[in-house]
Amino acid sequence: MKRWVFKAGGTGIDDLLLEEAALPVPGPGQVRVRMHAASLNFRDQLLLMGQYGGAPTEDIVPLSDGAGEIDAVGDGVDAWRPGDRVTNLYYPAWRGGPLAAGLGLGPGTAGDPGMLAEYVVLAEDAVTAAPQSLSLAEASGLPCAGLTAWTALNGDQPYARAVGRDDKVLVLGSGGVSLIAVGLARGAGAEVVATSSQDAKLDRTRRLGATETVNYRDTPNWGEVVFERTGGVDRVVNAAGTNALDQSVAALANGGEIALTGFMDQTQTSPDFIALMTKAATIRGTRVGSAGAHADLVRFIDAGQVKPPIHQTYSFADAKDAYRAQLAPEVFGKVVIEILAS
Ligand SMILES: NC(=O)c1ccc[n+]([C@@H]2O[C@H](COP(=O)([O-])OP(=O)(O)OC[C@H]3O[C@@H](n4cnc5c(N)ncnc54)[C@H](OP(=O)(O)O)[C@@H]3O)[C@@H](O)[C@H]2O)c1
Repeated sequence: MKRWVFKAGGTGIDDLLLEEAALPVPGPGQVRVRMHAASLNFRDQLLLMGQYGGAPTEDIVPLSDGAGEIDAVGDGVDAWRPGDRVTNLYYPAWRGGPLAAGLGLGPGTAGDPGMLAEYVVLAEDAVTAAPQSLSLAEASGLPCAGLTAWTALNGDQPYARAVGRDDKVLVLGSGGVSLIAVGLARGAGAEVVATSSQDAKLDRTRRLGATETVNYRDTPNWGEVVFERTGGVDRVVNAAGTNALDQSVAALANGGEIALTGFMDQTQTSPDFIALMTKAATIRGTRVGSAGAHADLVRFIDAGQVKPPIHQTYSFADAKDAYRAQLAPEVFGKVVIEILAS
C-alpha cells in the first residue's frame, strides 16, 4: 500500500514523500480501515512548519481527519464488520464528559499516525460511525474540524448551554471550523452572523444561512458593528485568535460567551477584561472534543441534514497540491484528498 510521510527532520512540503509500505494487519482489538478520504486542517500546515509538536524526530503519516470503510478486523472485535463506514476519532481516550487529562496533539503527529494512507490500523474504539447522510468525503472533515465546531457551539458533555433557536451566534472567518459551525448553528435554529476578509466569501456564507455579515478587513471595529446590527450576540465562535478577542467582546450581549478555538494570529493578546466583566461575559477555551461528543455530532448531522462544505477534492497522488490549495485565499470549505486504493 501507499502512504504519505512527513520525513524526520522535515522543514516543509518538500519533505512530504509518497512511499510504499507493507499492508498493516489488525491485531487483537484493532480494525483496518480502507481510507476513502482525508481532509486538511490548519494544524496540518503548522506541522510542516515545525510549529505543531516541533521539528519531527520521526517519520509522521500526516492528517488528523479521515473516513473510510472497515476492511478487516482483529481478534475479539465485535463492534465492527467489514464494510462499515467510519471516521477516526481525534481523542479516542476521551470517551465523554469534561476534558480528559493527558491528551496529546492528536492523529498525524509524532507517535500517533495520521490518515493520509491507503490503509490505517486503529484500535476498535478509535473509530466511530460516519453519518449516514454524508459522503465519506464530507465525513472526512469531522474528527477535528467538525467536532471542534460542535464543541465551540455546545461545550463539553453534559451540555449546560447548548446552542439553540434563541441564540445569535457570531462566527469569525470562513475557515473549515467556522463554516461547519455555521451549518451546525443554523441546524440548531440559531441566527448566524459571520465575518470574512472577502466580500465574495460573505456572499457564500449568506447562502449557507448567515443573515448578517461583516468584512473584518474593511471594518476594524467589526464587533461593534455586529453589536449595533444585532443588539449583541449570545456567543462567538472565535476560530481567529486572541487578536480578535476585544471585538468579540464588543459583539456580545450581556452574559454572552466566546468559544476561543483558534490561534491563526499566533499571538497572546489579552482582551479588555473590564469590558468582559461589565457584560458578565465568559471566554471558554475549547479542545476539539470527546468521543461521546463526536457521537452526538453524528446524530445531529443525520437528524438535521447538515452538510460540511467542501472546497475542492484532490487525488491521493496530488496531496501536495491539496496542501498548497488550503493556504490559498479563495478557499471556502474543506480541502479533501480522495484516497481509495484500487
Ligand atoms: N482549539 C482546538 O481544539 C482547535 C481545533 C481545530 C482548529 N483549531 C484552530 O482553529 C483555527 C482555524 O482552524 P481551521 O482548520 O478552520 O483553519 P482554516 O480552514 O485554515 O481557516 C482559514 C481561515 O481563517 C480565517 N482567518 C484567518 N485570520 C483571521 C482573523 N484574524 N479573523 C477572522 N478570520 C480569520 C480566514 O477566513 P477568511 O478567508 O474568511 O477571512 C481563513 O480563510 C486555527 O488556528 C486552528 O489551529 C483549534
